Amino acid sequence: MSRISVLFVCLGNICRSPTAHAVFQSMVDKQGLSDQIYVDSCGTGDWHIGHAPDSRSQQHALNRGYQMDNLRARLVVDNDFDQFDYILVMDKQNLADLKAMNCQNFTGELGLFLDFCRNPNFSDYSEVPDPYYSGDQGFSLVLDLIEDASAELLLQIKDRL
Ligand code: 4NP
Repeated sequence: MSRISVLFVCLGNICRSPTAHAVFQSMVDKQGLSDQIYVDSCGTGDWHIGHAPDSRSQQHALNRGYQMDNLRARLVVDNDFDQFDYILVMDKQNLADLKAMNCQNFTGELGLFLDFCRNPNFSDYSEVPDPYYSGDQGFSLVLDLIEDASAELLLQIKDRL
């Protein structure tokens, strides 16, 4: 039985990537695929290591039925390039930061998570906007974008299992 692993990356690992982690994990769990798909998230910045997700992200996620209070922020490490099949980032700066790391031998897929978006309403978004300094709408948009990209990512991964 093949096993696919997915790492979501943002800057602080307290808003966008833990939201992606929780949403995608929930979809994986609902389809009974948690033994075959491993999900994790991390950040490129070290300010929030060990912290739970931002309380606003947690509340907005919970409003849609996603629990994320068990997640803790961690920093991306070189070893992640040996461990994961997909490393999916929230914005172009995350991508540049990862490409500056020791990733030359990475054989998986490294790219923008929103490349998986299928809803034409989101075609203007190549990045998940950082909601940290935004209001409720920013956190809600993060969830809208992540739910759409997660559904397509799961379809594509299921084809490979
Ligand atoms: P995230 O949001 O990258 O989606 O987790 C941020 C959270 C915290 C900070 C920046 C972005 N910060 O500068 O502390």
